[in-house]
Amino acid sequence: MTYIVTDACVRCKYMDCVEVCPVDCFYEGENFLVIHPDECIDCGVCEPECPVDAIKPDSQDAPDGKWLKINTEFAKIWPNITRKGTPPADADEYKNQSDKFEKYFNSEPGKGD
Ligand code: SF4
Ligand code: F3S
Repeated sequence: MTYIVTDACVRCKYMDCVEVCPVDCFYEGENFLVIHPDECIDCGVCEPECPVDAIKPDSQDAPDGKWLKINTEFAKIWPNITRKGTPPADADEYKNQSDKFEKYFNSEPGKGD
């Protein structure tokens, strides 16, 4: 089992989650974060930190395992992030939207730290 980052993170990217992870297993894209499923120790500490409830246990993944696949794929190629940076200036405008991955996801890497 692992925790996964899901749709609500896209374009919000508040980054409160990265500060609490004891094994530093978050990876940064330009407008989304992912968890490395092989590094996550399932502690659950990050889940309540996300203001938009984007972090879920993989038992709550989509039926086709969509979010586990996305987290697995991009954790391999994006840089590690362990410190909260500045969220996007327009993050709050996107926090109540749905299907943000299909509309806005950008596969470009973030800066990491
Ligand atoms: Fe890190 Fe724990 Fe969250 Fe996994 S569940 S990403 S180990 S804080
Ligand atoms: Fe994303 Fe929530 Fe972390 S919006 S960056 S999963 S705090």
